[in-house]
Amino acid sequence: MPEATFHFPHDFRWGVATAAHQVEGNNANNDWWAWEQQPGHIAQGDTSGLACTWWEDAEADFARAAALGTNALRLSVEWSRVEPQPGTFDEGALGRYVEMVEALRQRGIEPMVTLHHFTNPRWLAEQGGWEQPETVDRFARFVERVVEALGPTCDLWCTINEPNVYAYQGYLAGAWPPGASEWGTAMTVMRHLLLGHAAAYRAIHEVQPEARVGFAHNMQIFDPARPRSPLDRFVTSIIDRAYNQAILSSLKRGLWTPPLGFGLALKLRGTLDWIGLNYYTRELVAFDRTRSEALFSRRLHGDDAEMLDGGYGELYPQGMMRCLERLAQLDLPIYITENGIPDDDDDQRPRHLLTHLHQLWHAIQRCYPVMGYYHWTLVDNFEWAEGWTLRFGLIALDPETQVRTPRRSAFLYATIIRANAITPQAIDAYAPELRPELLPGPDG
Ligand code: FCB
Repeated sequence: MPEATFHFPHDFRWGVATAAHQVEGNNANNDWWAWEQQPGHIAQGDTSGLACTWWEDAEADFARAAALGTNALRLSVEWSRVEPQPGTFDEGALGRYVEMVEALRQRGIEPMVTLHHFTNPRWLAEQGGWEQPETVDRFARFVERVVEALGPTCDLWCTINEPNVYAYQGYLAGAWPPGASEWGTAMTVMRHLLLGHAAAYRAIHEVQPEARVGFAHNMQIFDPARPRSPLDRFVTSIIDRAYNQAILSSLKRGLWTPPLGFGLALKLRGTLDWIGLNYYTRELVAFDRTRSEALFSRRLHGDDAEMLDGGYGELYPQGMMRCLERLAQLDLPIYITENGIPDDDDDQRPRHLLTHLHQLWHAIQRCYPVMGYYHWTLVDNFEWAEGWTLRFGLIALDPETQVRTPRRSAFLYATIIRANAITPQAIDAYAPELRPELLPGPDG
């Protein structure tokens, strides 16, 4: 029987990703903390609480990441800690972040620092947050301080995490703070986030000319539920444009792309040194004339779809390649800044990991410049409106006791990293469909 080992480039970045509010604990000064305290907002009435106690001891989990063999870790800086009052910067908080990135370096792990990952200081939220144009410059001022402090240890920056998800959840679905549901405001917020990205890009390069700056774009695959139906195809293309494409086109062309807006957006041009892909799932889209609030669409899943836990969507590894095909057109280095699966009992994660990495391997064979993969996530953490009900960790965490237990996927990831490859043994154990004799040719 033919065997295959899918090797990765020798300098490939094997990482894990997380965000400040989801792991630090006691982030009491931001808008998410306030939101969590109000009944009905978070599944089971959960709160972030002590989260994974990273503010006290991120180093213990950094040691776990190092033990897996990772050489990269994406984390974020919490704006409300660094700038607790407008214009007042907390040197102690900045010092703690310096300590963290140094602790990563000491373990041979390259930090990637995200500067905005969904949370805002309460004072900013009270002043209208990203609805207000002033937030763009305020963000750039905060970014400048962070880069001055962390710059000696870090040069890989992710300005903003998922502008589309942030705007969708907070300003359309009403599921995240501030709980709004207004199309126009959502588009304004997305435009301000992109301008914030551009302002941050320039602020970072002022302080650190050699910096590598990008942002993390959440892409989802949307396919027409009935591929032959012109109406399904039409709404699918509208949703794809609104969610996936408008942001990328606006940044590339320096022109607002509908539905984000119209007219020049010259400030956006040339503000990417790399692009990050957060990829999770696919949805099918059907035309539904009764749902004007959802652009006349309904989302569903095929009868044969393998579903993930907690209604999180479909396991669809091919989507990774389809997103990369589109991103490769930007001609920029690409990082998979997030990819993972909620799977408490870890029955799907090993196969998820292998099949997605196999797609990535294919992309690299096609010479797409994929530089690294950051698995979401190392340790179970506070999953926003889903609270602690969705478990994305390679390592399980009991938030009450803080006891951590590695899942079998943690060992699998360590094996892959050590081999710098997907090995036949891993394929046999968890993803027999990747055996070479069972694989379709490169184009099918
Ligand atoms: C992404 C978020 C991240 C985490 C994962 C599961 O959209 O960026 O914080 O919640 O989903």
